[in-house]
Amino acid sequence: MSNSVTKSSPVKRTRQFLTFLALCLLLGAGVVVLRLPSVAQPQPASPPSKTSDPTNPIAALRAEIDQLKGKVPDQSHAMADEGYHFANLWFAGEKKNWPLAKFYLDETRSHLNWAVRIIPVRKTRAGDLELKGILDAIDNTFLSEIANSIESKNVEKFTGAYRQTIEGCYACHKAAEKPYLRPQIPQAPPQSIINFDPDARWPE
Ligand code: HEC
Repeated sequence: MSNSVTKSSPVKRTRQFLTFLALCLLLGAGVVVLRLPSVAQPQPASPPSKTSDPTNPIAALRAEIDQLKGKVPDQSHAMADEGYHFANLWFAGEKKNWPLAKFYLDETRSHLNWAVRIIPVRKTRAGDLELKGILDAIDNTFLSEIANSIESKNVEKFTGAYRQTIEGCYACHKAAEKPYLRPQIPQAPPQSIINFDPDARWPE
């Protein structure tokens, strides 16, 4: 008797175990199936929270662009430099220091171009003002005249072309609705560390 019980019980147990295993597998699959939608659901909501994540490359790029924008000089800054170079140009020409005049003219030209690259089109009450077109006109006429006068080392031509350029500067300031920015023949050189005298002998 005891023999038959002990013989049949391992078979029964094995069956019970297999049934239990099958149930477990089914239940497990059911849990996975049930959980799938709940796994998929939070995903559409996750991208917005990702943009504020500093490890997100797009958010990091945006933050970097904002930081760089804050470092770029504004048009007023570039124009103040422009005024500096153009005023020094006057004294170099007056002293007939032609290589120095050529240097300041080149700086004048490159800084005007830089200023216009910062804001190429300004909004005015009369509509969009294309600064590049005005700059090109001034560059090809008045500033080219200054270049010719430096080339031919002619002070009278230099003075005339310089005065005309000032009128060109002011024409653009007026068009940009800033008539109070009225340039003049400079009274004193903005810089004193560079000697304007072409015959200076020190330092050698
Ligand atoms: C194509 C147009 C244009 C031309 C040409 C131009 N300017 Fe300007 N300038 C401007 C504008 C626009 C501003 C105002 C910038 C701002 O405040 O945003 C300005 C501002 C200035 C300022 C004031 C800067 C400051 O903030 O202190 C000076 C100085 C100046 N210009 C000098 C000159 C001189 C000198 C010339 C000629 C050699 C010249 N500009 C030619 C458009 C021009």
